[in-house]
Amino acid sequence: MDFEEVFNKERATRKFSTRKVDDELIKEIIKKAQQSPSLLNSQPWRAYAITGGALLKLKRENKAYIARKVPVSEDFSTMLSIDWSTFPSQNMSNMGAFVTYFLHNKTELFENANNNMFYAPAIIFLTIPKKSPAWSVFDLGIFAQSIMLLAINRGLDTMPAHSLVAYPDLIRKYTNIPDDEAIGMAIAIGYADKAAEVNSPTYIPGRVPFDKIFKLIK
Ligand SMILES: Cc1cc2nc3c(=O)[nH]c(=O)nc-3n(C[C@H](O)[C@H](O)[C@H](O)COP(=O)(O)O)c2cc1C
Repeated sequence: MDFEEVFNKERATRKFSTRKVDDELIKEIIKKAQQSPSLLNSQPWRAYAITGGALLKLKRENKAYIARKVPVSEDFSTMLSIDWSTFPSQNMSNMGAFVTYFLHNKTELFENANNNMFYAPAIIFLTIPKKSPAWSVFDLGIFAQSIMLLAINRGLDTMPAHSLVAYPDLIRKYTNIPDDEAIGMAIAIGYADKAAEVNSPTYIPGRVPFDKIFKLIK
């Protein structure tokens, strides 16, 4: 696929169809993504893909946790500062306003998608050692972006979501991710359910004005 086309296609997919993703394709994508740059080639990342029966069980238990209002305990929130500065906070609240306004208060569409792990046929959990410098979080972000672009190039749709890593204990139960690794992020992959309202292009959020994020200094 043309690079611009791949890049422009990278949008959050909040409902996947039931079409399965080939295990070999997942492996191929992760293997290629290993080419991503990292500080001093430290390659701090690990990827754990879960599909099939194991994922079904995880989804069921995850939903039960949400129903029981089990407090969220993301690994990154205990590891890193979660004090946000004004600029991203404002952008996030604009996103909240967007959801309320454009979804005509159908926030339940978003909630339902998140609570059901986006009905994804495969989820890739991404980790770094808990003992990591900030550089490793940066490296993990690059690795995640590589995975997503490579997946899109192979006809897949992607969904990066912190809601997928809300309950690290549950994820560890099904993946055996060691305790000394932080389950930082996850990417759901599959094929978009094109008929799903939550995937409608109407709900694609815009970006802040370019001059707010860029300065050219000569
Ligand atoms: C680190 C990260 C975490 C995210 N977590 C969630 C999430 O938990 N739930 C969700 O619905 N979207 C989540 N998103 C998707 C963003 O809301 C989405 O990328 C953003 O609104 C821009 O929309 P677009 O990707 O469709 O252009 C996350 C994205 C990133 C990069």
